[in-house]
Amino acid sequence: MGKWIIIVSKPELMKEVFHRLDAFQKPEPKEKKITKAELKFLGLNNILHQIKETHLRHRRVLNPAFSRGWPPELFGNLAIELFEVMDKESEKSPTLEIHRFTKSYALDVLGLAAFGYNFRGIREIRKTGSELEKAYHTVVYGMSDRKYVLLPILEEIPGFRRPELFNQIDYLNGVMLDIIKERKKILKFKKVNNDSDNNYDDDDYDGPRDLLYYMLKAEETQDDLKSRLTTEELLNNMKIFLMGGHETTAVSLAAAIYFLGMNQECQEKAREEAMKIMGDEKKNIIPNSEQIKELKYIDMVIKETLRIHPPVPVAAGYRRAQKDTILGDEYAIKKGTILLPHIYASHYLEELWEESYKFNPERFANEKDTANKFFTFGGGSRICIGMNFSLAEQRVFLAMLVRKYSWKVTEPSIHKDKLEVKPILLDVTVPRNLEIDFERRY
Ligand code: HEM
Repeated sequence: MGKWIIIVSKPELMKEVFHRLDAFQKPEPKEKKITKAELKFLGLNNILHQIKETHLRHRRVLNPAFSRGWPPELFGNLAIELFEVMDKESEKSPTLEIHRFTKSYALDVLGLAAFGYNFRGIREIRKTGSELEKAYHTVVYGMSDRKYVLLPILEEIPGFRRPELFNQIDYLNGVMLDIIKERKKILKFKKVNNDSDNNYDDDDYDGPRDLLYYMLKAEETQDDLKSRLTTEELLNNMKIFLMGGHETTAVSLAAAIYFLGMNQECQEKAREEAMKIMGDEKKNIIPNSEQIKELKYIDMVIKETLRIHPPVPVAAGYRRAQKDTILGDEYAIKKGTILLPHIYASHYLEELWEESYKFNPERFANEKDTANKFFTFGGGSRICIGMNFSLAEQRVFLAMLVRKYSWKVTEPSIHKDKLEVKPILLDVTVPRNLEIDFERRY
């Protein structure tokens, strides 16, 4: 498009781009080219698009909401619900298009975790999902329709306008806004007496302790009113979490199932580990927080999956050089230059990842070996805020899945050589029609 872009894939240079905020920043929000539908749904006042002080303000309020342990039941109960649907569906045929299932699962997890709302996406697989779930999907697919991304002008042309999509956006925004307003009304945080850590609590509140709860609580601790987030910012962030958080994790889970289906010995090893730690009784068991920490091999499987198939293959948004500068010791970068940290490319550098195309969880046996070259969640001050949330979700889900089923990739498969993908919104790449044959173990 008449502009040069510098693709950065060497780990030490990627780190510099992520960390040197004086030299590299995302573009100003107003420079963003987004569709009218995306503008209306996600807006620009959110953690993903804002930069510099405003971005810091978002992170200050949101970091505490994410930096705590998550109850394994949040992930485990929905996994059990999903298994019931999988069992029912596999009575018709053992072949399941697995991404459809992980996607519904991850959406329900995020709805509950973010604002205590069950989208009933899992039930939608059997056509009994909620109105909100249906509206959500209309909006996500409408926003990411390639025609409108490439030709936003279509939105103005009679015959191409999409009034139904915009009605659904209004409906979704309205419901979510009501949830926030209602919660704000009932939550009355009080400073805990004699607490030197400046803790706040709400003794009378017995509703869900979800992200919304912790965000509102974190806000309460900001004495300076200017440090807080407006209701519009909170709402936009909730939608970013919902979308950014569920699509990515759903893809990651589907990809892990694929790699374990292609590598039976790894699947067996993961199963042995789960049975050893969670017991070998033939029933669903949700691992507790201590057991989750012990699932070392499953953790390695998740990370190797995320290396070989990073759901967000290039950092979410390019960076622009803020001044003339030197990158590394040798690259002169002119002010204004666009740089794109390329996560996918960096994960395939042969000099850093031997036989990079091979699925080999053992690479992650020793965390120190990979810490400086694993970029699936980005880096620096914009590192993915939901990283630990997603990893916890995946550990619980996969540990439960390997105990309950064994599986292989259906033959013949378009994925026989590598995981084939298609791009969708927010640059997340999802697998194309990924069919897996499941066999129940109980
Ligand atoms: C496997 C799962 C996930 C992957 C691979 C992933 C990946 C990423 C990447 C690469 C970035 C961009 C970093 C950058 O541009 O510097 C990012 C940012 C972000 N992610 Fe995730 N993500 C995942 C899960 C989640 C979850 C579960 C949530 C929320 C519940 C979430 C929320 C966000 C947000 C809000 C940002 C923007 C952070 C900022 O700019 O400060 N992500 N993620």
